[in-house]
Amino acid sequence: MKNIYLIGIGPGNKDYLTIQAIETIKKVDVFLLLEKGERKDTDLLGLRKEILENHLKPGAYRVVTKRMPVRKRGRPAYHEEVAKWRGEVADTIGEFIENDLRDGQNGGILVWGDPALYDGHLEMLRELSRKIRFSYEAVPGISSIQVLAARHKIPLNRISEPILITTARHLKEYDPAEIKNMIVVLDSHASFKNIDDDDIDIYWGGYLGSEDEILLSGRLKDIKEEIKKAIMEAKRRKGWIMDSYILRRRMNE
Ligand SMILES: C[S@@+](CC[C@H](N)C(=O)[O-])C[C@H]1O[C@@H](n2cnc3c(N)ncnc32)[C@H](O)[C@@H]1O
Repeated sequence: MKNIYLIGIGPGNKDYLTIQAIETIKKVDVFLLLEKGERKDTDLLGLRKEILENHLKPGAYRVVTKRMPVRKRGRPAYHEEVAKWRGEVADTIGEFIENDLRDGQNGGILVWGDPALYDGHLEMLRELSRKIRFSYEAVPGISSIQVLAARHKIPLNRISEPILITTARHLKEYDPAEIKNMIVVLDSHASFKNIDDDDIDIYWGGYLGSEDEILLSGRLKDIKEEIKKAIMEAKRRKGWIMDSYILRRRMNE
């Protein structure tokens, strides 16, 4: 039987790899790298290649690089758009399993951060396993939101508080008064700028864990312009940004 390991590699630093991830990487015969052909690839694929070079002997593994299908934006429904794109990515992974792996071999996919947080691989592999025969396992990784909390030296929740994790896309659905302890990912357009509330703090992080890491925090209304500027400058400099943040209602003291 062919097997796929989905290995969480952490969100941007080669030292975020767990011992379990390193041990699993050593069992992999062929890695699949998907590239989008964007400026971002140099950093995101670069880290993956560095991880392999650091932990494996040259010649002990094979890398198959495939083109990541392009997501056609602007379909009427976002869900439909993502589902179609995921189907195409799953087909690409399916081709890898069928053509690049032999029976008894392990394939490896290095997943940014943790495979369980806003990542489609687990669902894609579940769907794919209904069509072709293979097994798969997931190895958890450090997620961007764990790094965000650690770098700001704050817990993700205060005593007994719930945490709401969402994407910037859904942020506008919340009345600012509902925001108590909210983590936002998949933004890059400074969606926090539309929140008008004097009692919210923001803990923001860009390129967490990397040499380019930027950390900013403070009362949202006082610091939003500074963060917007940092995002704009970072995008100008690198051509892309990956950021996440915690929005937290101030406690009455
Ligand atoms: C598709 S999700 C993947 C999340 C990933 N599976 C994880 O565990 O962190 C991508 C989003 O995660 C957040 N993210 C990932 N890496 C990050 C980093 N190094 N710095 C800041 N945010 C990051 C950003 O909000 C980004 O838009």
